[in-house]
Amino acid sequence: MKSTVFALTALLSPALAAPTARATKVQYAGVNIAGFDFGCATDGTCSLTGTSKPYDIVSGANALGQMNHFVKDDTLNTFRLPVGWQFLTNGQLGGQLNSNNAGQYDRLVQGCLNSGAALCIIDIHNYARWNGKIVGQGGPTNAQLADLWKQLATKYGKNSKIAFGVMNEPHDVPDIKAWAATVQEVVTAIRSAGATSNIILLPGNNWTSAETYVSSGSAEALAAVTNPDNSTSNLIMDVHKYLDTDNSGTHTECVKDNIDNAFKPLADWLRTNKRQAMLTESGGGNTASCQKYMCSQIQYLNQNSDVYLGYTGWAAGGFAQSYELNETPTQNGNSWTDTSLVKSCIVGAWKGA
Ligand SMILES: *[C@@H]1O[C@H](CO)[C@@H](O)[C@H](O)[C@H]1NC(C)=O
Ligand SMILES: *[C@@H]1O[C@H](CO)[C@@H](O)[C@H](O)[C@H]1NC(C)=O
Repeated sequence: MKSTVFALTALLSPALAAPTARATKVQYAGVNIAGFDFGCATDGTCSLTGTSKPYDIVSGANALGQMNHFVKDDTLNTFRLPVGWQFLTNGQLGGQLNSNNAGQYDRLVQGCLNSGAALCIIDIHNYARWNGKIVGQGGPTNAQLADLWKQLATKYGKNSKIAFGVMNEPHDVPDIKAWAATVQEVVTAIRSAGATSNIILLPGNNWTSAETYVSSGSAEALAAVTNPDNSTSNLIMDVHKYLDTDNSGTHTECVKDNIDNAFKPLADWLRTNKRQAMLTESGGGNTASCQKYMCSQIQYLNQNSDVYLGYTGWAAGGFAQSYELNETPTQNGNSWTDTSLVKSCIVGAWKGA
């Protein structure tokens, strides 16, 4: 029935036939593996001792095992690996990667690569800040953030499966153009370190809200960020969106699928401007309402995979079953059980598409 209607529509209006040319689903689907970001607050302070090392904290269910399960049993292929800036340099702003700490984080990165994932995203989880002050706007210099990324790009840039998430959730950044200049310095540093074609995720203001990516001026400012050859290849817009009443991702009930308010208008902007975006955080409780809206949201991304590259749910890794948005699977001997939201939407909407 569907295809008959569609064939008729295509005959009548060739322009409407365009969607058939699109892939049927996004390229990248998976979850965040949280833990190295624990102890980081939204003002960019990160307690070095608050860090949980997610490869061994969850008893019987370490993060390396989780990733192997997600790839092998669920066919997911992408993990975002949050980490605090302070942890990597052991609290030294502008310092070198600390070999001990960066070595621990590297176990998680290597575990991701060894799982067979297609994409492992390094995410600096600092809200555009270091200890309360905004990068390039009263806090660390652009050069200090660019230097961190130069070191990470030198270490990881030869592997095309590594993606660089410049910064988690900038918010209340007063000057979006100045922030885009910060991001530009980071992109230039990454590319100059030899990571010429890895995906780089560009974060906007307002917690990288997909809903306000365009209206906040983030899209326009970040569209001007380019590679050294002036192209924008593999410079992908990084967006987040939750489904609860206040978009905070703290409630177990969901109230909207974010299509009309966020993902449709953003898709229009992306198409007009020939750009792509990735949803690197979204999630909800293991409830019927979240199942309904999260599956609908992911289905929309799949249907618009010309502009949406993929999604990673928030979050597995170090979270316990008691966490509202928990996506950590439980292990029993050799078998794993996913949370209901992961099973039905993160995996279900991906496998079923
Ligand atoms: C941030 O996003 C929320 C919705 O996601 C919106 O209600 C709010 O007005 C936005 N704030 C700014 C400063 O754009
Ligand atoms: C990039 O654009 C700038 C400004 O338009 C121009 O000066 C520069 O030569 C260009 N670089 C390359 C590699 O095309």
